[in-house]
Amino acid sequence: MTQPWIMMCPPDFYGIEYEINPWMSRSRSSDAHAARRQWENLRAALEAAGARISLLDPAPGLPDLVFTANAALIYKQTAVLSHFRHVERQGEEPLDAAWLTANGFEVTRLPEDIFFEGAGDALFCGDTLFAGYRIRSHARGHQLVGESLGVRVIPVELTDDYHYHLDTCFCPLADDTAIYYPGAFDAYGLQVLQSYIRLLIPVEREEARRFACNAVVVGRTVVTNTGCPKLHDDLRRHGFATVETELDEFVKAGGSAKCLTLRLDGEEAAAWKRAAS
Ligand code: ARG
Repeated sequence: MTQPWIMMCPPDFYGIEYEINPWMSRSRSSDAHAARRQWENLRAALEAAGARISLLDPAPGLPDLVFTANAALIYKQTAVLSHFRHVERQGEEPLDAAWLTANGFEVTRLPEDIFFEGAGDALFCGDTLFAGYRIRSHARGHQLVGESLGVRVIPVELTDDYHYHLDTCFCPLADDTAIYYPGAFDAYGLQVLQSYIRLLIPVEREEARRFACNAVVVGRTVVTNTGCPKLHDDLRRHGFATVETELDEFVKAGGSAKCLTLRLDGEEAAAWKRAAS
């Protein structure tokens, strides 16, 4: 087993400088010191769970660069680069591409007119790539990703603007197990998730709004924001260890634990990861 490997970006230039999701308000700014402390605590929690962290250099004028989940979708040695819907984040793309190339990935791009927000919207559970579309990523982009990687893609529509990325309402834990917030999907999406995933652990609205689903999975340890006690109970009952660490400064931008990370060696729930190792 190789050591879990995660990319993060320090919050040196993090802040609420524009509004591209309902969580963000320029009138509710973030506290730089608190953000730094919370980010360091998350990093420490992931290292304690066994992960190795590599850092992307922060850059002025790109406050959301901290949300590295959106850099790309990782599949083996390929990184499918994101193309952000909002121009405010498009400046991140060349920095992500350069870093991933320098770290040994083959970076591929989708056509210019397709929006795709990486591991924020595309998550492997077993051998299937579940992919959220409409609010940020295009459904067509997910299909192209599936064709180029040769994997099955199941696109699900995201219906709640507060859960604008799939990783805010769905988190695979293992091949056949995932957390989800039912309120963020339509009837078709729910039916699809329920038919493909044997054990779906539901999250209630209040905890979903605390980003309960935005969890980082390292081995059998699940790390989330504070304020998700019911989910943590359920996870422990299913044999997972749970860690909570306060991330409120990042919730102000619409992000939490998972958004602040990009798993580089393959998510725990991705079947290809085990086949490769
Ligand atoms: N402010 C960022 C945005 O709206 C937050 C990104 C959160 N990332 C995520 N993977 N859900 O794009």
